[in-house]
Amino acid sequence: MQVIKYAFQQHGDSRGQLVALEENKDIPFEIKRVYYMYDTGEGVRRGFHAHKSLEQILICIHGSCKILMDNGSEKKIVSLEKPYEGLYINNNIWREMYDFSPDAVLMVLASDFYKEEDYIRDYDEFLKLVQETKDNN
Ligand code: TYD
Repeated sequence: MQVIKYAFQQHGDSRGQLVALEENKDIPFEIKRVYYMYDTGEGVRRGFHAHKSLEQILICIHGSCKILMDNGSEKKIVSLEKPYEGLYINNNIWREMYDFSPDAVLMVLASDFYKEEDYIRDYDEFLKLVQETKDNN
């Protein structure tokens, strides 16, 4: 599985840093939704789902956390610890987020609005779906 991690351009000067993200330019899709997680409790693991068609970019804009990505046959763990790093997560990838530092703010840019019907929350169902996708290609 290819892990696509972006290093966004930092506009730094004596005042500090600034990162600007534009859809279809810095971000490889139209941004329809932004959400973020913070105050994540110690030892919490969240996510535990895949998406049928949603694409996302995860940016830990403060603090750090880890992301487990699983395509059904391979797993990768990615650390996010810089506010200018973005992890691309395509559809059909099971993800879990964990090891949040107490000050972590994990921001997500998403290619679509919140749609419960796009979620796959059952791991066995996820494995079945990726196998079917493989069989059809
Ligand atoms: P949840 O899907 O459990 O978060 P994760 O799986 O990423 O850990 O979402 C937590 C709650 O927030 C749940 O009640 C649904 C709601 N929610 C929205 O209303 N809009 C959104 O865009 C997201 C991601 C969640």
